[in-house]
This record gives sequence, C-alpha cells and structure tokens, in this order.
Amino acid sequence: VVPQRLVNFYEPGQAHKVRQLFSRIAPRYDFINDLQSAGLHRAWKKTVVSLAGAHAGELALDVCCGSGDLALAFERRGVQAVGVDFTEAMLQRAAMRGARLLVHGDAQALPFSDATFDIVTVGYGLRNLSHWEKGLEEMWRVAKPAGRLVVLDFGKPENALWRKIYFGYLRAIVPLFGRVFCGDAAAYAYILESLRVYPAQRGVAEKMTALGCRDVRTLNLLGGAMAINFGLKR
Ligand SMILES: C[S@@+](CC[C@H](N)C(=O)[O-])C[C@H]1O[C@@H](n2cnc3c(N)ncnc32)[C@H](O)[C@@H]1O
Repeated sequence: VVPQRLVNFYEPGQAHKVRQLFSRIAPRYDFINDLQSAGLHRAWKKTVVSLAGAHAGELALDVCCGSGDLALAFERRGVQAVGVDFTEAMLQRAAMRGARLLVHGDAQALPFSDATFDIVTVGYGLRNLSHWEKGLEEMWRVAKPAGRLVVLDFGKPENALWRKIYFGYLRAIVPLFGRVFCGDAAAYAYILESLRVYPAQRGVAEKMTALGCRDVRTLNLLGGAMAINFGLKR
C-alpha cells in the first residue's frame, strides 16, 4: 500500500516534493543504497561505465548525479565528468566525496548546449522525474552525434511470480530500512510509488528508438528487477 502522502508524488508540479525527499535522505543515501541492494549497485554502476565505452579525454554528463557514484567512476577512468542534480544536499555529498564538476540544475531543462557530451548517463534518476520522457529527450539533446546514452534504474520483470516477489520486497522491506536508518519509512516507499508511472526498461528502449538512437540494447539484471538501457545517438 502506497502511503497516502506519496500519492501523486511524481505527477507534474510535484518536483519540490522529490527535492525535499532527497534533501531528507541525503545523509544516509549511500549507506541505504548498499543495504537495500546488498552492495550490488556498485557492480551495476561499473557496468554502466563499461557499456558507455568511456575513453580517457572524453566528456561525460551524469544526470541526477546524487552523491556522485557515476561521475566519480568516470573520473577514475580519466573521463571528465559533470554531475547535475537539483538537490543541494546531494550535490554537497558528491563534492565531499571528491566530485569536481557539479552543476545545480534540472534534468528536464539541462543547462547545457546541444551536442556537448560524448557520454550521458542517468542512474536511478529518470524514474524520479515528473516527465521521464523529457529527461531522456534532454539527454539526447546534449549528447554529441555518436554520443552514448546509458540509463540504469529499477526495472519491471517480465516473469509474474518474480515481479510479485520483488515488488513485495520494495513494499515491505525497503521502507523498513528507511524507518530504521532515516526515521522515515515513507521516504523509501517512494521507489515502488515511482514505478507506478515509470515504464522501466521496455518504455525507455521504445523512447530511445523513437528518438532515433541506434544500437538500442537492454541489459536485464536480477531477472529484470534492475535494467540498463543503452542507445547511440545518430
Ligand atoms: C535515487 S537518486 C540517484 C543518485 C545517483 N544517480 C545514484 O545512482 O546513486 C535520484 C537523484 O535524482 C535527483 N533528481 C530528481 N529529480 C531531479 C530533477 N528534476 N532534476 C535534477 N535532479 C533530480 C535527486 O535530487 C537525487 O539526487
């Protein structure tokens, strides 16, 4: 059952609530990420960086960068990485962890010129936008021709039984982590709530194709509970 105060959370005009939520959980964000994924999100983020085919000297943008995992992973490969996020508390964490190029901005109106970046990624971000398609269109706009777009997020497994088990985990267990470690169960019920409207890997692949991406690929992880979408800008 979705807590009442999260209903309509992801609908247009509610972005300030998303920002408030991430401001609240910022201090514990990394810790709970490790806990709820048993540390696996680190491996999935490494896969994002590998799939992006990052080469030293290139320029990457990580949209909804949060505490900076992907931007820092690119930097370790010699790729200059800009992180953009609209929650100051998350940007502060990214800065504390060593991210150097951070921009306060909205994923749905990226403050960058067309065709700027070799790589544009988003990890667990599109799902949080009131218009996820707009976020993907913006990623496409700021990518150079032949730029790589990579999206990592919670998925929707095709297998009905597995989907039930996994949604049960998101409904019953993950909010407990929020309650115990942030004193706020509702803050972690947001994952399931956001999946109510986000079409996950299938919708992202369709949108990438509609935008004109080539080589559109979906990598399902944990039976589709997580997914990475890849597309190459024509
Ligand atoms: C679940 S966190 C993901 C953080 C990081 N990418 C990761 O994988 O750990 C989602 C992030 O998206 C940011 N966010 C949500 N809506 C946004 C928007 N419209 N513009 C920019 N950032 C946004 C939040 O502030 C938060 O830091």
